[in-house]
Amino acid sequence: MVKNMPIKVLAVLGASSLVGMAMSGCRGDRSDKPPRELLPDMDDQPRVNPQSESEFFAAIDGRAMRQPVVGTVAFARRPLVATGDEPWMQTAREERRDLLEADPRRYLGLVREEDPAEVWRFNTPALWVERIPGSVDMAMLNRGQDRFNIYCAVCHGYAGEGGKIVVENGVEVESGGMVGRRFATPPANYHDAKYQRESSERTGRDGYLFYTAMYGVEHGAKMPGYAHALSTDDAWAIVAYIRALQESRRGTLADVPEEQRRILERQQGGNAAIDTDSGAELAGGGS
Ligand code: HEC
Repeated sequence: MVKNMPIKVLAVLGASSLVGMAMSGCRGDRSDKPPRELLPDMDDQPRVNPQSESEFFAAIDGRAMRQPVVGTVAFARRPLVATGDEPWMQTAREERRDLLEADPRRYLGLVREEDPAEVWRFNTPALWVERIPGSVDMAMLNRGQDRFNIYCAVCHGYAGEGGKIVVENGVEVESGGMVGRRFATPPANYHDAKYQRESSERTGRDGYLFYTAMYGVEHGAKMPGYAHALSTDDAWAIVAYIRALQESRRGTLADVPEEQRRILERQQGGNAAIDTDSGAELAGGGS
């Protein structure tokens, strides 16, 4: 054993220096060969590139990619955006619509299917649905508030007044969304007349608000869309919440429930300072 040791050591040294020499090459040498790897770790594996040819399927159609199984319906959170007139696109759209009864009113906020990349160019208010499809309940409003505060408030402000710098008593006061107020073009103030339901512009339509939430303004050029983060239901919930925000500024004394109205009238009549306790009670009622 002891006698063998030096030979073994020599052999190992010799072998490793040979390997070293083989691997080092000369600095600056160019090579088209892939770099040598001691531990390849399955870095290289056989695969096919999309849209490439394949000998394996030569007998069928020679394509590496397979066609979808007949009857497969392309389905995603976003409606199928494809608008080309290739037959498979049309078929996929039609099949999806038939099988899922995908109603453009509900999925796009439009009265008919249109390409989301183009829709913002249409200035015809009638293209957008007038009202949220389906009914609105408290759970929907709460969900809308939750999503709005996450995705919209940063620019449009928690109360939806957009982002702006207002002057109060000669002092500049920033209001609205923390990010939005820094924009050269301020984010929309939902309390402006053109966003109210009474407006005859497209901006007054529920479908338009839905569409903007999903696809942004001018297809993302002026405001990003949030379709990647919002489900269809979420986006409608946000629309309902925006309507609630608007309503909160349009109320009159007559809208306040009988009991609380009396409290308000007492405060107004007595010219008393606002009672913060009952004020909080009133504010707590609506969200
Ligand atoms: C990154 C900032 C930002 C966020 C976040 C944001 N917006 Fe906007 N939004 C803008 C800006 C800026 C405009 C004004 C674009 C213009 O008219 O040039 C705008 C405009 C709008 C308009 C008016 C569009 C029109 O044509 O007049 C609506 C409605 C709207 N946003 C809804 C939303 C909703 C709903 C969300 C949340 C899902 C949201 N925005 C999130 C920046 C933002």
